[in-house]
Amino acid sequence: MPNIISVEQFNKNEVEKILLEASHMEEKCLSGKNLNILENKIVACIFFEPSTRTRLSFETAAIKLGAKVISVENAQESSSTFKGETIEDTTRILCSYADIIVMRHPKEGSAEKAVSVATKPIINAGDGSNQHPSQAFLDLYTIKKEHGHLDNLNIAFAGDLLHSRTLHSLVPLLMMYPNNTFYFISPLELALPKEYTDELRGKGVSFKEMNSLKEGLSDAEVLYMTRVQKERFEKLEDYEKVKDLFLLKVEDLKDMKEKSIIMHPLPRVNEIDPEIDKDPRAAYFRQAQNGLYIRMALLPYALEA
Ligand code: CP
Repeated sequence: MPNIISVEQFNKNEVEKILLEASHMEEKCLSGKNLNILENKIVACIFFEPSTRTRLSFETAAIKLGAKVISVENAQESSSTFKGETIEDTTRILCSYADIIVMRHPKEGSAEKAVSVATKPIINAGDGSNQHPSQAFLDLYTIKKEHGHLDNLNIAFAGDLLHSRTLHSLVPLLMMYPNNTFYFISPLELALPKEYTDELRGKGVSFKEMNSLKEGLSDAEVLYMTRVQKERFEKLEDYEKVKDLFLLKVEDLKDMKEKSIIMHPLPRVNEIDPEIDKDPRAAYFRQAQNGLYIRMALLPYALEA
């Protein structure tokens, strides 16, 4: 059963197939073609953490493909988890109603727990700071669409690299492509965890760690901003210390290449001045739109439809 839990489960060939399928989905959407390939399927979306893009784009993808959707938002409080039901029991019940389960949860490893009892495919829509594979696919799709290639790029990641599940999924995918150089820009306390830098070193991938946004701007073909994730901090005072350290301002754009792009998984809080939205390099809303096409490719992939 093709669950989608972590990007580590995909080889480059499979990644390329998913990107190609997403481009077919985009073409079909834009041409208004009928896409009833998931007719008679039921997609369950259960989100134990807030979401705008992931949940609604999965649901839109399901509807566009002819499926029906059952959905639980705010599941910590509105599902029987509130009464103490385990993730395993919730999963067993959902599998008896739906054909596939899209799940977001604040705890790392929750998607794997769900898989351990599931009789239907599970898509991990984000588990704590661990993985967010569908976001990484849409990010990859965006870079390919914007730049035309996924190799020979300087890619700067800035902000909360410690907690960003988006980044933890995207970096391994980008490592599949040759001659990319990564710039990891963060305060020391939000640096990329050692397991990722060890892997980059082990694979001979070029990267630099820095703590000033200015240092990374001029080389980057992709600047990937991230939100400082308040919900992952144990102490509010620790969050307050770092929350506003990286704000991309209009004047910073003059240091960036004309052909660079600015990405952000969104939501943004105080990382990108909204004035930058007008600049053609601001790719983050196009990026969010691409989430629909990627999720239209991933649902049939997991359902083997
Ligand atoms: N990028 C992302 O996961 O957005 P949501 O939290 O709105 O789903």
